[in-house]
Amino acid sequence: MDQTIVVAQMRQLIQVLAQHNHAYYVMDQPTIEDSEYDQLFHQLKALEQQHPELTQPDTPTNTVGAKALSKFETITHVVPMLSLGNVFDQQELNDFARRIEERLPNQKIQYDVELKFDGLAISLWYEHGVLVRGVTRGDGETGEDITENVKTIRNLPKMLCSDNVPIPELLEVRGEVLIPKAGFNKLNRHLKKKGEKEFANPRNAAAGSLRQLDSQITKTRPLAFYAYGIAQCKPSHGFKTIAESLDWLKEFGFENYDHWVFDSIEDVQKKYDELTNQRSDLSVEIDGMVVKVNNIDQQLKLGFVSRAPRWAVAYKFPAVAALTTVENIDWQVGRTGTLTPVARLNPVAVGGVTVSNVTLHNIGEIHRLDVRLGDTVSVYRSGDVIPKVEKVWPEFRPVDSVEVHLPEQCPVCDSPVVMPEGEALARCSGGLYCAAQRIEAIRHFVSRKAMDIEGLGDRWAESLLHLDLLKDVADIYHLHAHREKLLTIEKMGEKSVQNLIDSIEKSKKTSFASFIFALGIRGVGETTARMLANTFQTLDALRNADLDALKKTPDVGDITAEWIIDFFQAPHNLEVVDRLIAAGIHWDAPIAPTRQPLNGESWVVTGTLSSMGRDEATQMLQALGARVSGSVSAKTKCLVAGEKAGSKLDKAEKLGVPVLDEQAFLALMAEYGQSLDT
Ligand code: IVH
Repeated sequence: MDQTIVVAQMRQLIQVLAQHNHAYYVMDQPTIEDSEYDQLFHQLKALEQQHPELTQPDTPTNTVGAKALSKFETITHVVPMLSLGNVFDQQELNDFARRIEERLPNQKIQYDVELKFDGLAISLWYEHGVLVRGVTRGDGETGEDITENVKTIRNLPKMLCSDNVPIPELLEVRGEVLIPKAGFNKLNRHLKKKGEKEFANPRNAAAGSLRQLDSQITKTRPLAFYAYGIAQCKPSHGFKTIAESLDWLKEFGFENYDHWVFDSIEDVQKKYDELTNQRSDLSVEIDGMVVKVNNIDQQLKLGFVSRAPRWAVAYKFPAVAALTTVENIDWQVGRTGTLTPVARLNPVAVGGVTVSNVTLHNIGEIHRLDVRLGDTVSVYRSGDVIPKVEKVWPEFRPVDSVEVHLPEQCPVCDSPVVMPEGEALARCSGGLYCAAQRIEAIRHFVSRKAMDIEGLGDRWAESLLHLDLLKDVADIYHLHAHREKLLTIEKMGEKSVQNLIDSIEKSKKTSFASFIFALGIRGVGETTARMLANTFQTLDALRNADLDALKKTPDVGDITAEWIIDFFQAPHNLEVVDRLIAAGIHWDAPIAPTRQPLNGESWVVTGTLSSMGRDEATQMLQALGARVSGSVSAKTKCLVAGEKAGSKLDKAEKLGVPVLDEQAFLALMAEYGQSLDT
């Protein structure tokens, strides 16, 4: 290869790696998966091996990370904190063992195997048993003084005590700070509740917590420390093996996770296979295991090469991230009409599983990622999480890449796709007609507060769909013509068929409000349906209502108004509505309310009422045009307070909202012509 091309490749890799290093070590906001970083790092290393003479002076293969932040005091490590070389498969592990055997011919070699914790390396100094200093790894040469924060970590001894062994004058312990999975989930739940930003993963959470300038915040974070090595001990502890020295640390109260000693590299491989399967059951995140020559004299003989020990290696788990290309993007229509883009990928192995499809969630995510057909993307899985596109690599974008747009028509039923401003999700407007939404539309249509067709939703809906008897909800009213077919459904006897047909027949007499609710128009719940029925009185008036008239209806917000327009503009929906009416659905013409004295007012009902339930009180209020809300605010017109009214009553009093007790409420209702039996 031409030398200038090699140098150009090296320069590009160095630049990309430097950016990611900064994001990872300094900003605590990794921009790519570790495994992808490793891939790029390996590419650079391979180039350097092939062309050592072209190795660039600033190559990251010779350093550990980026410089420490300046906000904490900087401390130089007396013993540098180095990194580990990586191996990814049995062959590479065997190569590691072979290199050791070659340097230590005819010696018995034992391996100490530990978990490779996915947290942050720190160093702890104990002078005469007292914790005097805690330092981050930083760039390996200098780190940050985080002593105050380290002192808040619960499972870490602030003072070394032991009845059995003398306390060393100086002890420098190295290990990993992390947040165990359970603590991580709890922390994120807590942050979410407070409306704060959640952490993307336990490692970021640990890094963010450890880097707090205020140690009182660190104290609230469930950090844990696991020791994996001793950098200095004076006087010497005298142990011959790392395994013994780790067990000795336990004497002083250090926690170290299980570690294992094996006599052969084959047994090390077996342990790796075992851990690969157990990984998700562990209480902490790990990204592999660390294999160390157990004997400390042998370690000293083996020494270091290019800032990593020859005597240890990280045996990483298979990549949880991989690069692949986007072949296509399909739009799937969910049961509620939501359109979800799904990227069809060139199949790629990610964490041992072949991934060929990955959801892109919504059009906003497509724009955020700026993903186009033909793009190279990184796909990752962590734990048992579903695969995700993490980022697009614009540097690999082909010239013929194709931008992705939201389809104008539903890919299932051709109805227009709608997405009101401010909404993240696009939807198919063919609610009643669209095959993808059929089952949900039917369940809703027959539910108690809608058309109230007993049994159909829970028991028979799926079977009827399978028999192709229900293409849309209007077909329900033609089921009586298919008695024979109905009888073929498992557990459906003569009696059930008759019951079903009877309750379908009975449902034809309904109310305008229930019918509107049954249509399943987005945003139109029971109350809104009632308001629409009261306001528009007839189906024709509702169908032809314009945006302004809809927006003026109590309980109808701007977005809902648009959904209603969209619904009645879709020809398929109108067709189904017409067929429903033609099938005999009818309701009593609404008695025009002589007046709606509470029109548009917001009321709240709370506490226990003795003569009625809260539902009934709500209905009376709604019949008079009021909106009944669940919480008291400055906008609340009046609070109806029964017995044991709690915080809502307090709030109403505080805000000066008028309060009616049950008696006064009944009196007012009577004045407006509402009583319990109307
Ligand atoms: S020993 C001289 N043991 O891996 C080598 N490191 O690339 C000292 N790590 O940042 C490292 N678990 O924080 C060792 N059981 C373990 C480890 C471990 C995680 C991290 C360490 C360092 C990185 C080395």
